[in-house]
Order: sequence, then C-alpha cells, then structure tokens
Amino acid sequence: MPLRMNRDSFVCTGAILIVLIAEIILFSVSNAQARVGQDSAAAKSTFQTKCAMCHGPDGAGSEVGKSMNIPDLRSPVVQKLPDAQLAQVISDGKGGMPSFKSSLSEDQIRDLVAHIRSLRQKK
Ligand code: HEC
Repeated sequence: MPLRMNRDSFVCTGAILIVLIAEIILFSVSNAQARVGQDSAAAKSTFQTKCAMCHGPDGAGSEVGKSMNIPDLRSPVVQKLPDAQLAQVISDGKGGMPSFKSSLSEDQIRDLVAHIRSLRQKK
C-alpha cells in the first residue's frame, strides 16, 4: 500500500511538471509573437530612455523638446506620416532630432514606430 501511494504521487508530480513545461513554452511563444511589429514593453522602455528626454514620456514633448520646437508625437501632423517616414526620421535624424541608426536596430526602430502609433490611441 505505501508503495502504491508513492507511485501515484510520482505520476502526479510528473503530470504537474509537464503542465509547467508546456506553460513555459506557450508563454515564450506568445511573448515572441507579441514583439513583432507591435507596441512592446521593450519599445516603451527604449522610448523612455532614448526619446523621452526630448519628446516627454507620452510624446507631448519635454521642456527641452519644447525649447527645440518639437512636434507633439500624438498630433495628427506626426500621426498622418507613413510608418516608413517615421522610421526614416528616427534612423537618420532631422533638424534637432538626432540620428539613431548606430544605436538602435531596424527592429527596435520599427517597434518604436508602433509605440508612437500607440501614443495616439491612448489620447
Ligand atoms: C535631442 C532631442 C531629441 C531626442 C533625444 C529625440 N528626438 Fe525626435 N525629434 C526632436 C526634434 C527637435 C524633432 C523635430 C525635427 C524637425 O522637424 O525639424 C523631432 C522629431 C521627431 C519625429 C517627427 C518627425 C517629423 O517628420 O515630424 C519623430 C517620429 C521622432 N522625433 C521620434 C523620436 C524617437 C522615436 C526618439 C528616440 C529614439 C527621438 N525622437 C529622440 C528631438 C529629439
């Protein structure tokens, strides 16, 4: 009898482990999908560290940015520009806007464009 109990709990532990492993795999797959071309947490934190000093945490423009006549990233003026143009400005710079092509990958820039799009939706 004690032997059977041990076997049952062994089987039970195995089942729990399988469920746990399946969950970890599912979680990383859905994480990877969420990252493609969408507003990701990574893009948000890149924006906070590299862009917010001029554009403000919500894209409206910080004090420094406003002194440089920065456009409000949430405004129709910026939002009506195509993705390719936003990506190009981030990559090559424009006026007081620095170039980021040496410090950000193409993927990061594309995710930042998605993040800029999400700023409009939150308004
Ligand atoms: C040193 C301050 C500064 C930083 C840092 C900065 N920007 Fe800018 N950004 C500007 C200024 C100034 C402009 C306006 C440029 C112009 O139209 O002459 C601008 C314009 C833009 C535009 C609009 C371009 C257009 O054609 O209207 C986008 C999009 C943009 N920035 C995205 C970003 C992103 C994303 C980051 C972070 C990776 C970033 N910026 C970091 C100063 C900055």
